[in-house]
Amino acid sequence: MKKKIRHFLNINKLSTKDILLIIKQAHFLKKNYGRKFLNDKKILAMIFEKPSTRTRVSFEVGMKKLNGDVVVLDQHDSQLGRGESLQDTIKVLGRYADIILYRGSDEKILYDISELSEVPIINGLTNNSHPCQIIADIMTLEENFKDINKLKICWVGDGNNVCNSWIEAINHYDFELNISCPEGCFPSKQIIENCKSSQVRLFDKPAEALKNADVVITDTWESMGVKKDREKLKRFHKFRVDADLMSKTTKDSFFLHCLPAHRGCEVTDEVIDGKNSLVWDEAQNRLYAHQSILLWCLEDF
Ligand code: CP
Ligand code: NVA
Repeated sequence: MKKKIRHFLNINKLSTKDILLIIKQAHFLKKNYGRKFLNDKKILAMIFEKPSTRTRVSFEVGMKKLNGDVVVLDQHDSQLGRGESLQDTIKVLGRYADIILYRGSDEKILYDISELSEVPIINGLTNNSHPCQIIADIMTLEENFKDINKLKICWVGDGNNVCNSWIEAINHYDFELNISCPEGCFPSKQIIENCKSSQVRLFDKPAEALKNADVVITDTWESMGVKKDREKLKRFHKFRVDADLMSKTTKDSFFLHCLPAHRGCEVTDEVIDGKNSLVWDEAQNRLYAHQSILLWCLEDF
């Protein structure tokens, strides 16, 4: 029988046990940074169909620190740009590399390549999800709160890929998730119905969603690869996370943003640079979260 490969595709595709293990290991790797090594040298191949700073650098640095190595491909410097199919590319890369990260657009393509790949596939972001980000985000919250299950988390802005992955995390945790988006920008009904949806509440008015929030999260109003829509953008202005909106929380709430930030659009300087902003720790924690994901996929734990 074909051996089951440990792909890291989505938050709701993993068991709660595995999610908790990966995050626990990420904390361990942070405390013991530079002291954990792979038993055999392994190679990570990364395919980027969209730009990346954090995902690319943290996976590369993380893998190298584990004594592994990395090859990076993008549309311009590989045959992908000349029309070789992603499927053929994955088949070939699996003969050279031990694990593959893919950042693309269509979620279905991610699942298709995971079916044919002979090595683990990591979802490095699609239009629908960003599970690596959520591992680092939860790790960051665990550094600041005793029990993430007791939190009220508030997402403000576009109901995008990162928001979707937060919704999927509800399958594993008991936190409450308030989501406030402009009309037409809420996450799909289906993604909410697929989780323990009683923990999700939708709000038209961001100030109401923020009440009692322990954590406020936002992201860009225009995700990569999504068609620019000036009319849609006009609807976002009251969803900007500024000091006034943050003052609507009755708590000394923390702030998260996966970055890159568009200062002055979805968040203002005073919030992102403020004392309650966790965004730099959040970005740093991608390093340990990704090392942990790599080790889990490679069956090191
Ligand atoms: N947050 C995140 O994934 O950043 P990059 O697009 O820079 O990888
Ligand atoms: N929602 C953003 C996340 C970037 C890391 C995007 O897809 O562009």
